[in-house]
Amino acid sequence: PKSIYFTRHGESEFNVEGKIGGDSNLSERGWLYAAKLPDVMGKILPPETKLQIWTSSLVRTIQTASFAAMSASGVSPGISPTVTPTGATPRAPFHRAPTLVSWKALDELDSGYCDGLTYEEIAEKFPEEYAARDADKFYFRYRGGESYADLCRRIEPVIMELERVGADDTVLIVGHQAVLRCVYAWFQGYGQEELPYLKVPLHCVIKLSPRAYGCQVESWTVDI
Ligand code: F6P
Repeated sequence: PKSIYFTRHGESEFNVEGKIGGDSNLSERGWLYAAKLPDVMGKILPPETKLQIWTSSLVRTIQTASFAAMSASGVSPGISPTVTPTGATPRAPFHRAPTLVSWKALDELDSGYCDGLTYEEIAEKFPEEYAARDADKFYFRYRGGESYADLCRRIEPVIMELERVGADDTVLIVGHQAVLRCVYAWFQGYGQEELPYLKVPLHCVIKLSPRAYGCQVESWTVDI
């Protein structure tokens, strides 16, 4: 692809509570990020851009994409985020409505029995698992869940599709921390050691432009 863009979903209620996994709604700050995202993308990309926004199947990514998916006429395909907890009014920067694609393959790392717990609760309830994860974060598989190694395999079809559509369309992935670490590592050539620790902060859009060797990286942090 020419360039790909990705961002984590806006801050979620689980992020605020320090809980992992789940399928919670955005927090008020998260909604503010969602409402600012069209402006941010409109400043980065020209209005004639054919944008595809890829989310996971989890509500926090779909809510984050909801404003950005509005067309210039204010019609949003499939979702109507006209009323949000913040009461913010969306602004549409692109001539045509971006295409929204929701991928189950982009769902966050499945943390199995630990889903919905804080890291402190995991350390307390499952001390051996906690230590094992610390010792080998890439291959550690949550009981009843996944490892980063599993996740890298799961997102392969998404990467293939990204390579395919990227020739014509521009893709913005609205994803999750662990998943985006895998995407980032794929394009940047990071290995298993570094991958699970790559920094993908909230409220930040990252642009990767593949070059002959590695990618050029640009990022925009959104103050909220
Ligand atoms: O805390 C947010 C989150 O996306 C969790 O849902 C997920 O389990 C975690 O980050 C992944 O990060 P790490 O692998 O560092 O725990």
